Amino acid sequence: MRAIILDGDDNYRITELDEPVPGPGEVAIRVAYAGIQWGDTMVRDGHFPVPRPFVPGFEASGHIIAVGAGVDEGRVGEPVAALTTAGAYAEVVATPAVLALPTGGVPLRTAAGFGWGTPTAYDLVHHAARVRAGESVLIHAAAGGVGTLAAQFAELAGAGRIVGVVGSPRRAAYAAQFGFDRVLLRDEFPAEIAHEQFDVVLDPVGGQTRRDSLQALAPHGRLVAYGNIGSYEPVLADTNDLLMAGTSLVTYNSNLLSRTHPDRLAHSARQALELLAHGRIRVDVTAEYDPEELDVAVTRLREGATDGKSVLRVADRLGARSVAGRSGR
Ligand SMILES: NC(=O)c1ccc[n+]([C@@H]2O[C@H](COP(=O)([O-])OP(=O)(O)OC[C@H]3O[C@@H](n4cnc5c(N)ncnc54)[C@H](OP(=O)(O)O)[C@@H]3O)[C@@H](O)[C@H]2O)c1
Repeated sequence: MRAIILDGDDNYRITELDEPVPGPGEVAIRVAYAGIQWGDTMVRDGHFPVPRPFVPGFEASGHIIAVGAGVDEGRVGEPVAALTTAGAYAEVVATPAVLALPTGGVPLRTAAGFGWGTPTAYDLVHHAARVRAGESVLIHAAAGGVGTLAAQFAELAGAGRIVGVVGSPRRAAYAAQFGFDRVLLRDEFPAEIAHEQFDVVLDPVGGQTRRDSLQALAPHGRLVAYGNIGSYEPVLADTNDLLMAGTSLVTYNSNLLSRTHPDRLAHSARQALELLAHGRIRVDVTAEYDPEELDVAVTRLREGATDGKSVLRVADRLGARSVAGRSGR
């Protein structure tokens, strides 16, 4: 089969590899589309060490073509949205059967865009923060994949007020479609909402944003830290202070959950897929790329030039051409 590999000098290249054979508990999927996500920028730019050469691609849609031991053979032919640990930028990927979710009629292009971001947003709202009806929610990185979905899940959960924080006026206009009552620019946080307190803050940013957000919690509020997109600087919280206000600092890590409790992540993903299939939430796929354009797509994501989710056309498009690397742009 053909696959895209990330080689030792950080360039993507199309190559010929053996097709993966599903192991026990796994399925093999003929990939139709693969979702492009923030993890691609981290892996390509060396922030997340992986052995090279590496076949990237963390979210796929397509049809199951083979099952490993212990998996129902009746699943062959099933259309799925799949969460993978690697390998989705290839004609065929193998992944645990539990994380290959029946699409329930969601088109394959959207099913690839569903990716890790949708179940993450679902879990942030329902399991990590446990948003209750009437509560106020502050969402950082509000125009991103997770942010726009978290706003939609929070609205469905009956949140009373949803405020988003974004990097630019263009991103504010984009985020405004997803149920926010107000969208602030990063420069305006926290001064513009100094008078407000929030029951829930969803924070993938870290650093000073996390410190300021802890200060913005209402009594019994919960801050969920789920990324460090702005800063890896350690943020320490005094549990005595938290206790006095009844507030909590919670973390969420879907990648870890997929390894420790894949059934829990799959359950959330199925709930989210059902809402998607019934049109209750929207995954906004706005850009499609061919395999040789992967580097451009990842760079656009990295530079914040993309509104909405990007997907890679994989089926029938993984040709023999080499992929232009960053040095060749
Ligand atoms: N823990 C988990 O389980 C989990 C799962 C999925 C994702 N994540 C993390 O969540 C974060 C967002 O993921 P995503 O899929 O929503 O990303 P995305 O769709 O690629 O969007 C990236 C977002 O990050 C924001 N951003 C970029 N640099 C920033 C900075 N220096 N300060 C503040 N915001 C910044 C951008 O905001 P503007 O465009 O408005 O500037 C944009 O909204 C990533 O860090 C990702 O690794 C964690």
